[in-house]
Amino acid sequence: MMNDLAVKLSQRVERIKPSPTFAISARADELTAAGKPVINLSVGEPDFDTPQHIKDAAIKAIQAGATKYTAIDGIKELKQAIVDKFKRENQLTYMPSQILVSVGAKHSIYNLFAAVLNEGDEVIFAAPYWVSYPDMTLLTDGVPVPVKTTFAQHFKLQPEALEAAITPRTRIVLLNSPSNPTGIAYSLDELKALGEVIKRHPHVLVASDDIYEHSLFSKPFCNILNACPELYDRAVIINGVSKSYAMTGWRIGYAAGPAKVIAAMKKVQSQSTSNPTACSQYATIAALEGDQQCIKTMRKAYQERHDFVISELKTMPGISVVPSDGTFYTFPCVEGLYNKEAGINSDLDVAEFLLTEANLAVVPGSAFGTPGHIRLCFTTSMENLVEAVKRLRKAATLLKGKVTL
Ligand SMILES: Cc1ncc(COP(=O)(O)O)c(C=O)c1O
Repeated sequence: MMNDLAVKLSQRVERIKPSPTFAISARADELTAAGKPVINLSVGEPDFDTPQHIKDAAIKAIQAGATKYTAIDGIKELKQAIVDKFKRENQLTYMPSQILVSVGAKHSIYNLFAAVLNEGDEVIFAAPYWVSYPDMTLLTDGVPVPVKTTFAQHFKLQPEALEAAITPRTRIVLLNSPSNPTGIAYSLDELKALGEVIKRHPHVLVASDDIYEHSLFSKPFCNILNACPELYDRAVIINGVSKSYAMTGWRIGYAAGPAKVIAAMKKVQSQSTSNPTACSQYATIAALEGDQQCIKTMRKAYQERHDFVISELKTMPGISVVPSDGTFYTFPCVEGLYNKEAGINSDLDVAEFLLTEANLAVVPGSAFGTPGHIRLCFTTSMENLVEAVKRLRKAATLLKGKVTL
């Protein structure tokens, strides 16, 4: 018999839910295993393999004995490579003491929250948001404060809305540009306007999740510190190699910021995971310092796929879409597909319909705090996308035709 008392869970874990995007991918995999010809447009990771020179660096490191604990915050050579990367690509100057290497950018964000949030402290971010922001906030005793943005605003946080959301309990404003799930990026001027608001509230830290930095199709990349250097002493920049170098499984992310905050994040890491995997750190040096052609190759492929999918979506009944500035996501509005007779009354229903009737796995916008939309990833071949778009058009036409199913 199960001992209920012994297996009682913490309030902390009861507050959060598992990542919905992983859950949908798992369901798509199950259906595929059962023989269904599912095309999975729910996976937020590059479909490219990690470049060979990066793999080689890891193999060489293992053979040379990089199989032991390293410094908690990352090996010196990697921290220096990250310092150099910030200087070269972002015009930002950091000392190695301002850098912490962690087990993915997700871990970097978690460490930040754990290091600076007290119970009831608020974290502001724009909705649509990356699925993990609210739950990571809850897991670290904070209060998520999603600020709604609209399709007409191209899902960008407006300065007035940010001002209205800031309270004495606000601890962090978290920005993500280009964004998962919308693919939209802020301009330097838009970031300046947000920076002006943050400057007026000296108790607020700003965090910039730059994980999609290298996926911008034509705009140059900029973050809040490029726009507002005055915020340097209260800004934490988060980045990593998962998306830029097709290294999701290697689990390396990093944070740069005020030495005091970084030291506190390191303390959290020292009592949880210790160092990130040793050979992955060597692979990351090769990624940051080696040939950067892979970034261009992937970006070109994402852009071609994006342009194809967007041009198709624009001509589908019941669907409206804002073109992305970068990433491998698009976040179309599907409210026009709701069909009472067919029992399709929400984005969840649309996603379920697409999975069961069209063998298409997509993530409902509700998972990103924005009902009425779905997220499509172009992390699959053009051939698959051509077929996926055909199925989507058929499903949309069926629903718009008010067919009773
Ligand atoms: C906005 C955003 N931030 C962070 C991450 C996490 O990246 P990592 O694999 O480095 O943990 C993701 C991954 O999907 C993401 O979309």
